[in-house]
Amino acid sequence: MAIRNIVKKGDEILNKRCKEVKEINRKILELLDDMAETMYEGNGVGLAAPQVGILKRIAVIDVGDGLIELINPVITETEGEQIETEGCLSIPGVYGKVKRPQRVVVEYLNRAGEKVRTEGTGLKAVCICHELDHLDGVLFDEKVIEFVELDNDEKENE
Ligand code: NI
Repeated sequence: MAIRNIVKKGDEILNKRCKEVKEINRKILELLDDMAETMYEGNGVGLAAPQVGILKRIAVIDVGDGLIELINPVITETEGEQIETEGCLSIPGVYGKVKRPQRVVVEYLNRAGEKVRTEGTGLKAVCICHELDHLDGVLFDEKVIEFVELDNDEKENE
């Protein structure tokens, strides 16, 4: 496992649409491992492959209830709405309120190549939406309703 460099806003790779993963090979598994390590190192709750310079539809999430590795994720259900403050490891120091669904269902392949689904509410729903946006080249600051200043102890990075 290795910590990878996080691509920062301004690099056009963050604005590109990622390609589907065709085969879950050793390189993909290594990428998943590295992304998780990089996310934890950055105290993030999510990280998408383009943030480490790879244009593939892969993201990792951990909002405190365990690591989820998403390959070719698709949101299949949404419900309600919430407005919460988000941040992003690719846009350090910037935080803002974004409107997201309160609940989402996401279908994806796990590392074994099995099609699985996960439901997320609250922060987990926010995180799933934020990371999937990255896979379509969309950064959260484009969706911010209001930018906010946060104290250090309140920060959480996606
Ligand atoms: Ni992000």
